[in-house]
Order: sequence, then structure tokens, then C-alpha cells
Amino acid sequence: MPNAAVEKIRASLLRNNDEIEIHDLGAGSQQVSSKRTIADIAKKSLSPPALSLLYQHILQYNDARYIVELGTSMGINTLYLAQKKESKVFTFEGSSALTNIALTHFELLDTANIQLIEGNIDSTLPEFLQRTDKINFALLDANHRYEPTLRYFNLLVRRFNEKSIMVLDDIHWSEEMEKAWKILSRHELVYGSIDLYRCGILFFDPALNKQHFILSL
Ligand SMILES: C[S@@+](CC[C@H](N)C(=O)[O-])C[C@H]1O[C@@H](n2cnc3c(N)ncnc32)[C@H](O)[C@@H]1O
Repeated sequence: MPNAAVEKIRASLLRNNDEIEIHDLGAGSQQVSSKRTIADIAKKSLSPPALSLLYQHILQYNDARYIVELGTSMGINTLYLAQKKESKVFTFEGSSALTNIALTHFELLDTANIQLIEGNIDSTLPEFLQRTDKINFALLDANHRYEPTLRYFNLLVRRFNEKSIMVLDDIHWSEEMEKAWKILSRHELVYGSIDLYRCGILFFDPALNKQHFILSL
């Protein structure tokens, strides 16, 4: 069931026509800055409730305690990832306008198990991994380009164990993401994959014996 308190926040964001200035760190070296309404971001950039619920099921399935989300946006999906109080969610976001909004939501729902790491993931992720020894679940939903996706994958898997699970969002969104999914779903450390079209799930358990599925939600 969608979380009523979180969905109430989403509904208010969808009605909010205030504009904020966003630096798009996903645009490579060309720093693109643009003004967008909060409603537009809520409509186009957030995981829909069904996907957030799917992530919650995955966290339950592998009993994830250490969770990484690349791309916080306004923290709506993060609140779903943080449902289990004994888990710890590390969420990464480069836009300070968005981190301010996300932090307000975390406070509003009195969430104590989320740590928001602000800055460009290119530098914040390697720094974070130096002080972390395990990750059970990672959602890559920030820079949807080929090279950063592979780089983030290679960094994160060093902290994975065989029960860890990774989700890549928007795997068919662009040619670069198609290519990244094709390569990563056949990576030597990946023993199972599920292509759900909107996102792809990677498994690292050798017992899965290289099984790959394409499903429609
Ligand atoms: C699609 S949104 C995240 C949505 C969220 N995970 C959800 O499920 O609702 C992607 C976010 O990643 C952030 N982002 C993109 N590239 C980044 C980078 N290199 N460093 C930090 N944040 C980045 C953007 O600012 C944007 O807010």
C-alpha cells in the first residue's frame, strides 16, 4: 500500500507552482541551469508510488540495512526506502534547492535513518565509500549517462556482498542507458537480472547461475 503520509506530501508538491533554480549535474561538463516549478519536478522526476513500493519489497526480500540512493530529488522515494527504522539510507543529491526541500520532508515525517549527502556524486560517492564497508541495496537514479553509470556501478560493487541488489532506473531512456544496461546486466559479477522496462534489477548471488528475465509491470 502506498504510504499515506508520503503521498500527502507528493500531492501537495504536485499543486505547488513555485519555481526553483536547478543545476543539472547530469548534463556532463556543460552545467545547465534552469528554472522549474516544484509541480513539474514532482510530475516528471520522481519515482511513481508503484516503483517506490517495488523497491520497498526488494529491501524486505534481501533484508537490506545499508541502502544507497543516487539522486534524492525531493526525497519522496527516499522516504519509501527508509521505512524500516533499523536500516540506514544514504541519499545523494547535487542540487541545493532540492536538498533543502528533501530535508524539510525528512523532518516533517520525523525520519532519523536518512543521511543526505549533498554535492556532485562524482566526488561525494568515492568519499562516502572510503568510510563505508557494506551496501545491501543501491538505486542508481541520478546521472543517466553511460560513463558515470558504469563508474558508479564499479565503485558500489566493491562494497556489495552476494545478497546485495542494484537497481538502475531509466534503462531504456536513451541509447547511452541502453548500452549501460546491456553491459552491466552481462557483467561478470552479475548473476541475475530483471528488465522491467522502466528500471532494471541486478543480482550478485552466484546461486542464480546467470538467469536473465525481461518482464512487463
Ligand atoms: C530522477 S531524479 C531522482 C528521483 C528519485 N530517486 C526518485 O526516485 O524519486 C535525479 C536527481 O539526480 C540529481 N543528479 C543528477 N546528476 C547528479 C550528480 N552528478 N550529482 C548529484 N546529483 C545528481 C538531479 O539533481 C536529480 O534531482
